[in-house]
Amino acid sequence: MRIILLGAPGAGKGTQAQFIMNKYGIPQISTGDMLRAAIKAGTPLGLEAKKVMDAGQLVSDELIIGLVKERIAQDDCAKGFLLDGFPRTIPQADAMAESGIDVDCVIEFDVPDDVIVDRMGGRRVHPGSGRVYHVVYNPPKVEGKDDETGDDLVIRPDDEESTVRKRLGIYHEQTAPLIAYYGKVAEAGNTKYLKINGTKAVEAISAELAEQLG
Ligand code: AP5
Ligand code: ZN
Repeated sequence: MRIILLGAPGAGKGTQAQFIMNKYGIPQISTGDMLRAAIKAGTPLGLEAKKVMDAGQLVSDELIIGLVKERIAQDDCAKGFLLDGFPRTIPQADAMAESGIDVDCVIEFDVPDDVIVDRMGGRRVHPGSGRVYHVVYNPPKVEGKDDETGDDLVIRPDDEESTVRKRLGIYHEQTAPLIAYYGKVAEAGNTKYLKINGTKAVEAISAELAEQLG
């Protein structure tokens, strides 16, 4: 199964990616997590990406497209994959189509901006795995610690409110056009388009996804 998760920053893509990955046994390809790993490792890619990400801007299409193509070519993606945070511009979607990479399902998480700003204030993440928590809506078993490893959870540097608002602006401008783009792809072929109300509770959304994906 090949899936794209589409939605604003904080819409719940990473949260539901964990559920889908565990249920269907397909790898999550999170471009945000890949970039954060590159920053942590201090690679040239990481150095280039850090400033852009901290400012809430998008990394260049060229760089991201190369990164994703390389990842999809790896063996574990032969059985399918879950794209989280890619594509997020029309050129990125076009690059996928031109490479002959099609998907079975596009899942859009619909969440109003105000709900997102509220959520991001309480987000905590486990950098090693990409697991995501919220201090109120999805708390870890032990405060400030990852459920599986016990490692410390951290606040993402781009979760400051002014940066979140900037990221939302960029989402509406550059990523939201993909909703119509994939709507057309779905009409023309075998791709399913699912629009999910992302304001429901985490477990309710997971249950809906399980029902829809089968
Ligand atoms: P990325 O890491 O992809 O960030 P994003 O798309 O902005 O999305 P987030 O990770 O912020 O949100 P999410 O939808 O995963 O929500 P989550 O599940 O965590 O990208 C970061 C940066 O990298 C970009 O800004 C850009 O610079 C660069 N980049 C990445 N990909 C790129 C690309 N393709 N092209 C160019 N640049 C790229 O949930 C958020 C919070 O809400 C959590 O606390 C969670 O616990 C909580 N929550 C989740 N679901 C619910 C619910 N149903 N109810 C209540 N709370 C919930
Ligand atoms: Zn995410």
